[in-house]
Amino acid sequence: MEFPIEKLIGAAAASREKAYAPYSNFRVGAAILTKEGRYYTGCNIENASYGLTCCAERVALFKAVSNSERSFEAIAVTAGTDEYCSPCGACRQALAEFGTDIKVYMVNGSGNYQVRTVAELLPESFALKTPAPGGDDDSDDQKTITELIEPVSR
Ligand code: THU
Repeated sequence: MEFPIEKLIGAAAASREKAYAPYSNFRVGAAILTKEGRYYTGCNIENASYGLTCCAERVALFKAVSNSERSFEAIAVTAGTDEYCSPCGACRQALAEFGTDIKVYMVNGSGNYQVRTVAELLPESFALKTPAPGGDDDSDDQKTITELIEPVSR
């Protein structure tokens, strides 16, 4: 799959202009690229109830997933700072759900970058076994999520 990384970085930088960050004034933009060559952008969206803030990376990822995308090649993220913008732990785990081999381009304000895989950024990420699509739910090695969760007694 050939896609110029500069284009993905440009999309992340343009999306940063849309950031809603009145509390931190720290504006972040992201763009996630699918294996088929489509991309989706995101910016951070803050809230007066600070904990509700969503990072640019997850906005881009969730936009893509809600458009039926499931397989990703790379994500670019920039905060327009001197430092390369490194995704937070929550975003690393959210990306890991869709592939630990996704490449993460951490971009600075000059457009230079450092690239790592999700696996490198989040070793031993959390995962649940899920049934194989169209597979046999009763097999020993493929259990449903509900089978894995212990019943809670109330
Ligand atoms: N933020 C992101 O959008 N992505 C990151 O990788 C780091 C942090 C946002 C969350 C919050 O709106 C602001 O940056 C300051 O933490």
